[in-house]
Amino acid sequence: MKIKLNDNFNNIAESYLFSDINKRVKAYKEKNPSADIVRLGIGDVTLPLPKIVVNALVKASEEMGVKETFRGYPPEYGYDFLKEAVARYYKLINLDLDLESIFISDGAKSDLGNIVDILGDNDIYIPNPVYPVYVDSNLMEGRKIHYLKGSEENKFLPMPDGLNNDPKVIYLCSPNNPTGATYNYDELVKWVDYAKSSGSLIIFDSAYEAFITDGAPRSIYKIPGANEVAIEVSSLSKMAGFTGVRCGFTIIPSTLEVSGVKLNKLWKRRQATKFNGVSYPVQRAAEAALSIEGIKECQKNLEYYKENTKMLRELLDEKGIYYSGGVNSPYIWMKCPNNMKSFEFFDFLLEKANIVGTPGVGFGEYGEGYFRLTSFASNEDTKKAVERLRKIL
Ligand code: MLT
Repeated sequence: MKIKLNDNFNNIAESYLFSDINKRVKAYKEKNPSADIVRLGIGDVTLPLPKIVVNALVKASEEMGVKETFRGYPPEYGYDFLKEAVARYYKLINLDLDLESIFISDGAKSDLGNIVDILGDNDIYIPNPVYPVYVDSNLMEGRKIHYLKGSEENKFLPMPDGLNNDPKVIYLCSPNNPTGATYNYDELVKWVDYAKSSGSLIIFDSAYEAFITDGAPRSIYKIPGANEVAIEVSSLSKMAGFTGVRCGFTIIPSTLEVSGVKLNKLWKRRQATKFNGVSYPVQRAAEAALSIEGIKECQKNLEYYKENTKMLRELLDEKGIYYSGGVNSPYIWMKCPNNMKSFEFFDFLLEKANIVGTPGVGFGEYGEGYFRLTSFASNEDTKKAVERLRKIL
């Protein structure tokens, strides 16, 4: 063929972080078929869906098989019943959302990756280390990225101090993936004030908000003025175990505009062209997960995972190894012992303890020398991992 390809793909890593890790683990498993591998790598949930969610999925699927209740294309932006459930979920933290600002999708990854479609050639500011989707999706568009360095000194919570006053697009993830670091109210006020004074847009990823236990804001909209500068992207993946079901939502308030052009008008146009909505049974399942009973059932699962973070934290405390996260987050971000590099530690853990984690450098250059463990395995597997780690760390 003689067509032109998107050369920006030359600027991104050949494979997505978690695909790369899978390949390495598969190769190890082929060489060592009897290895009892404990997976604390990708943040994928393992507990089954809450009963209330399954019942809603079944009921809605059955409706699809009956002439009177069958539904065709869903609305591109989500059924009102789910948007209302999202609004009620925000009401629990005393926030009022207008239904027009809520966009239902098949998950935060898609929205975070697609949002670049409505933005022009801005300077992009992205924390580092962070979820790789923000960087890759901007590089695919040929955008210029500046990194906001996370380090032990700033507790992996970069702040706007020292940034110039030019308008920019800023990504924030709180609780952060991978470090678990979570901005408190005052820190988010500084970011919102900075965005207002510089004319910048914040893209706030709140996918891990349900893990917050220390009173930190669970939404950027808790901060006065945030509805003039921030888009919020969230997900049911971790909160309700929807990694396989696929459902999330993005909030674009109608108060977000550039020279009279509303951002949510552009997003509506974008979604109507490139997205055909989320299936009816999945939206009913999400509605059930966001009901009061559903939230209670989901919280039980989160408590289960929290026992795992506790076991891992206690081990690292016992060994005197630095870590962040594990309190407001399912992730523990630990320093690799003996100055090992991230991938060196990955190989060491896989070979010596048959444990899979995620090398910190996969989340950006400032993640080098760190390593991420998740709490999404079973209690039994996590206990096994802790015992093995105790012997080798
Ligand atoms: C992770 O492990 O970082 C997440 O599971 C990835 C994701 O949410 O897409």
